Amino acid sequence: MMTLGFVKACVVCLAIVAATLLAITPLRAQYPKLPDGPNRELVEAVCGSCHDIEMVAIGRRSEERWSLTMDEMVGYGLRITPADRALILRYLATYLPAK
Ligand code: HEC
Repeated sequence: MMTLGFVKACVVCLAIVAATLLAITPLRAQYPKLPDGPNRELVEAVCGSCHDIEMVAIGRRSEERWSLTMDEMVGYGLRITPADRALILRYLATYLPAK
């Protein structure tokens, strides 16, 4: 037979689990994503191939600084055509500008 104490402990335990899950959910929803816009998929594919795309999504900088960042990525091994580079730079400068 289950004692009342055991039943109460179960209820408290479930309540804690439920509260924890509820507390975690909004944090997951806030996980940084790239804003919608033209060439978003291109940026995600190119800039998300070595590291999480979140690394890009949390960054905000001027067009000049994004250009320098892309030069830095080329140093890490990024290979893109000049046309794609221009499209990505336009996206970054438009949707993730300096604050
Ligand atoms: C060839 C691999 C590679 C590709 C492709 C790449 N990166 Fe990176 N990126 C790196 C490495 C390596 C680091 C530094 C590693 C670390 O700090 O964890 C980095 C770091 C960063 C950082 C944080 C450091 C900083 O300078 O602020 C940003 C922002 C960034 N990358 C943006 C981009 C963007 C935008 C693109 C697409 C144009 C891109 N990355 C594509 C390799 C790459």
